[in-house]
Amino acid sequence: MESDWIDIGAAEDLSQKPLQRLSARSTQIALSFRDGVFGAVSNTCNHVGGPLGDGDLVGEYVACAWHQWKYHRCTGKGEPGFEEEAVPSFPLKVEAGRVLVDLAGATKRIKKPHAPHPLARPVKRAPGPLRIVGISTTAMDGANPRFSGSDHLLGHCHINGTEA
Ligand code: FES
Repeated sequence: MESDWIDIGAAEDLSQKPLQRLSARSTQIALSFRDGVFGAVSNTCNHVGGPLGDGDLVGEYVACAWHQWKYHRCTGKGEPGFEEEAVPSFPLKVEAGRVLVDLAGATKRIKKPHAPHPLARPVKRAPGPLRIVGISTTAMDGANPRFSGSDHLLGHCHINGTEA
């Protein structure tokens, strides 16, 4: 197949962020920059489609914003132990200060089976009274806080028609 090089922007500008999401025509890309080298992989995570470009760069790996699955920022291969898993990666070059990616040269997306999450096991009702538990499975920490709708609304409290 013929190459399909697309200019995605000035290297000077794109090197300002370690990781970002951008579009090349209708293709969403997670673009990384580390130690003077750009990497371009698909923005779409193999797990449930999370945005890789909104995640974090952890060494040479892009960690998905949603549940932290990791892919090599240049090859698209999964982290050690999951190397047979891959998101598409794109050939990339810098010419005359511009960054170009070859959309036609994307590697294949490869999904491998993963062990189901322990919470996905069949639910067996234990004898006794009804018990209810609510569990959030979204990964979050101090650096990646979960958006809270109730906290957001508290910032816009209205008391007797006046914003507090
Ligand atoms: S969607 Fe990427 S880790 Fe879950």
